[in-house]
Amino acid sequence: MKTKIIAFVRDPEAAINAAVQCLQNEELVGVPTETVYGLAGSALSVKALSRIFEAKQRPYFDPLIIHVAQREWVEELTPAFSEPLSAKLMDRFWPGPLTILFPKGERVPHLVTGGLKTVAIRMPHHPVLTAILGAFGKPVAAPSANQFGRVSPTTADHVYAELRGKIPLIVDAGPTQVGVESTVIRVVSGRVEILRPGPVTEEMLREVCPTREWRKSGKIEAPGQSASHYAPKKPVHISASLPENAETAALLCWGPIHSTDRFRLVRSLSEERNLHEAAHQLFALLRELDQSDATEIYVEPVPEEGIGKAIMNRLRRASHKNADSADNEKKR
Ligand code: TXA
Ligand code: MG
Repeated sequence: MKTKIIAFVRDPEAAINAAVQCLQNEELVGVPTETVYGLAGSALSVKALSRIFEAKQRPYFDPLIIHVAQREWVEELTPAFSEPLSAKLMDRFWPGPLTILFPKGERVPHLVTGGLKTVAIRMPHHPVLTAILGAFGKPVAAPSANQFGRVSPTTADHVYAELRGKIPLIVDAGPTQVGVESTVIRVVSGRVEILRPGPVTEEMLREVCPTREWRKSGKIEAPGQSASHYAPKKPVHISASLPENAETAALLCWGPIHSTDRFRLVRSLSEERNLHEAAHQLFALLRELDQSDATEIYVEPVPEEGIGKAIMNRLRRASHKNADSADNEKKR
């Protein structure tokens, strides 16, 4: 299959029409969101859903997020659309990078939820995806548009590198703004539990209601939360104390570039120590260092506040295979 990339700015109408045509044909399309690029297929089509798992080589037990353009669409997907705290969260944070778990409605195919009794839903905040959803008129399921377990894509070129030949179309709307995936939460007796930290931070959620971190119960509640994920092919080590001799390694530092004489290659997540900039750059830099001729990647930790929590969560999971990481004990 030939994978076509259409630049939205060059011909907006052609881009939207081509995307909608794909979705109507139960085919897949790479789409921009405010967080990362997604691999979209009709959420109510078992054929399209199967294609998502096939293209990503994703295990069927790993559930997908459904993306909606309107609050009314949620009513079709869950009987609990008017649960008061969820409604408050939707009022406050939608459209935006907050994914909420609801009890699964009957119309939602089991493929979406990986057999779980809950369905994950979000309303993305991106004009191009909103236009595609509006013209298609139905919800789409969209995981990040990468091979399973790999680094999420933040540009159309990343999507092409991951899925070339496996999908017919990618809509290019430039680099994504936020850079890390949506916050995933569930509401449990008046509290918000954070399953995946993201751009809607714990601090922001706490303004609406009490929050607590989700603790794994041992049984599979959220399979995509598996420890090893977002992984470059090269070993990743998170460490504030850097090795003396690392001339074959790359360094991803926090703040101004340093130690260029000790490493083969040095990049900074943010020279100004701005966590939003770091989130925006994280995946593109990991991808660049992974493709460089360095043999391994050292990363300096960032402060775990605000979106820094999401950055450290992704970095820990990227480094999971390395038992020698100084940060290892913090991994869940
Ligand atoms: O920002 C995002 O959320 C991006 C863009 C494309 O929207 N999407 C994304 O999808 O990150 P994905 O499939 O890469 O990650 C979805 C996460 C997984 O960790 C999955 O386990 C979790 O959401 N999830 C989905 N449905 C769930 C459910 N019913 N219960 C628990 N976790 C669920
Ligand atoms: Mg993903």
